Formats: sequence, structure tokens, C-alpha cells
Amino acid sequence: MKDISLHILDLVQNSISASASLVEIYISEMVDEKILKVCLNDNGKGMSKTQADQALDPFFTTRTTRKVGLGLPLFKAQAEASGGSLSLSSQKGKGTKIKAIFKTDHIDCLPLGNMADTIVSLILCNPELDFIYRHIYNGQEFTFNTMNIKAMLDEISITEIEVITWIKTYIGENLKGLYGGVSI
Ligand SMILES: Nc1ncnc2c1ncn2[C@@H]1O[C@H](COP(=O)(O)OP(=O)(O)OP(=O)(O)O)[C@@H](O)[C@H]1O
Ligand SMILES: [Mg+2]
Repeated sequence: MKDISLHILDLVQNSISASASLVEIYISEMVDEKILKVCLNDNGKGMSKTQADQALDPFFTTRTTRKVGLGLPLFKAQAEASGGSLSLSSQKGKGTKIKAIFKTDHIDCLPLGNMADTIVSLILCNPELDFIYRHIYNGQEFTFNTMNIKAMLDEISITEIEVITWIKTYIGENLKGLYGGVSI
């Protein structure tokens, strides 16, 4: 996959398969330290210790259609290729947390990709789910929460084109603000 945001899209599918109703996506960019941290937290069915260990093994999957599950091992390999790491903690019945560290000064570090498009795609494909997206750039923070949007919308669906267009612009503008007005 060509950027981190596509891995995020893929990993959120795991949360959905695990019947999560809330997924938290947390990105922290520490420019001076040259570190980009990605945390994904869900309230899905979670995994036992053994399942969590196996999940990072490319030859383990609970899928029945094919034998090899690649989402997590691939993301871990990408983090490690940059000199970073990935850790997973999960509790059965509670949820799962994934934390990946990327070293942004490494030549093999993937770019983050377009987070506004990613969040919009996640909302469009999973309107019944809630997402909290927190993005920190050099200590400046932006938070977007679908629960707040849904509360404002009342009867209107979050997937209405006007709402989606607004969300995309809103996230894009806020990210631009975080990055100091430089568009990415
Ligand atoms: N958020 C999660 N909650 C509960 N179980 C998870 C979660 N993420 C991964 N798993 C478990 O770990 C396994 C491996 O996940 P991974 O994404 O690597 O592969 P996959 O989803 O099985 O296949 P692929 O992603 O290649 O389509 C899953 O089959 C699932 O059992
Ligand atoms: Mg997967």
C-alpha cells in the first residue's frame, strides 16, 4: 500500500469485523523528533493474548476464505522498515488497541496520505459506526467526532452529499491549519 492512510482504511475493517461501534484514530506527528505515531482503538470483541500474538503472524487469520491474514503483519513490516515498531494490546470483550511508530526521516517511511479522504470514506461505508479522529501536529491538536456531527444533524443522514462535502472540507481546512497553512 502506498501510504499509511490506506493501511488505516484496511485495519478499520478488522474493527468492523470485530463488531466495534466506535473506532478512534489518533495520529501524532512530532516533526522535531521525526516520529509519526498512529493509534487505532476500537471497542470490538477483542482478542485473547494468544489470538493477539497470532494476529501479528502473517500465517494466522480467522478468515475462512483464505489462510493468510496480512493487514496487521504488513502494517507492522512498514513501521519496522522505517526503523519504528508496532504494538498491539487487546482485551476479550473490551476492544483492541494498535500503536505504530514510524520514523519519518527514513527513506522507506510511507507518507501519511490523505486523512480527510480516509475519514470521509470510512463514514460513507460505515455510517452507523462512530469515529473519533484526533490529529496532533507539533503539539497542535484537531479532533473530529462523528457523534457530535450526528447530534447536530438530528434527522439528516451523515451520508447526505452536502454533509459529506462539508466534512471533507472541514477536515481538510483544519489539517491545513495544523500544518501552518501549507496544503498537503
Ligand atoms: N481490531 C481487531 N479486533 C479483533 N480482532 C482483530 C482485530 N484486528 C485483527 N484481529 C484478528 O487478527 C486477525 C489478523 O488480522 P489481519 O488484518 O492481519 O488479517 P485478516 O483481517 O484476517 O485478513 P486481511 O486483513 O489480509 O484481509 C484477524 O483475522 C482477526 O482475527
Ligand atoms: Mg484485516
